[in-house]
Amino acid sequence: MRDLVSSICKGAKVIPVVVIENVEDAVPLARCLVESGLPAVEVTLRTAAALDSIKAIAAEVKDCVIGVGSILCEEQLKASIEAGGHFGVSPGTSATLLSALKATDWPFLPGSGTISEMMTLREAGFKELKMFPANIVGGVGMLKAVAGPVSDISFCPTGGVKPENAEEFLSQKNCFAVGGTWIAPVADVNAKNWDVIAERAKAAAKLGQA
Ligand code: 3PG
Repeated sequence: MRDLVSSICKGAKVIPVVVIENVEDAVPLARCLVESGLPAVEVTLRTAAALDSIKAIAAEVKDCVIGVGSILCEEQLKASIEAGGHFGVSPGTSATLLSALKATDWPFLPGSGTISEMMTLREAGFKELKMFPANIVGGVGMLKAVAGPVSDISFCPTGGVKPENAEEFLSQKNCFAVGGTWIAPVADVNAKNWDVIAERAKAAAKLGQA
């Protein structure tokens, strides 16, 4: 039985999406986010440092729920689990990735952007999906439109989510969390601007709590 991502994320309504270019930044970044009220993070597999960063966070920041993002294929899926990630995320879902996912019960948010992808993933047993790129595929309007047809599916919209629109996403009944890079953009991570990131994280931690 696959645990729901929402059930392992300690109530997080905002999941920062991070791109880590230097392994040394992984632990301070994760600590900064957790201490600022955001217990879950999505580390994208977009850099050579990503897997080692996940291993470092898993070893040293035990209270951080580690998502692994940008998973495109079975090889990355396996590497993400081995590195110690607690759940995975993909931007979309290819047939081969879906078949690899069916062979594991690792918590996972498969990416969807169309009603047909949502139906396919629903048939495969997924109850929670990433909606990506959320602002391009219709944003809050898309969430409202699919709430009737796939009423048992809940989403984590990502892509174009910002402080200005996050609350509107989170007020939808079929939105359990949002993700985004605005909290810890790569330039701030590279510059080790932990104070700036902490301020944004503290503000983000207040979203969706009403
Ligand atoms: C993702 O991988 O989910 C996106 O890159 C995040 O999109 P954003 O940069 O618009 O927040």
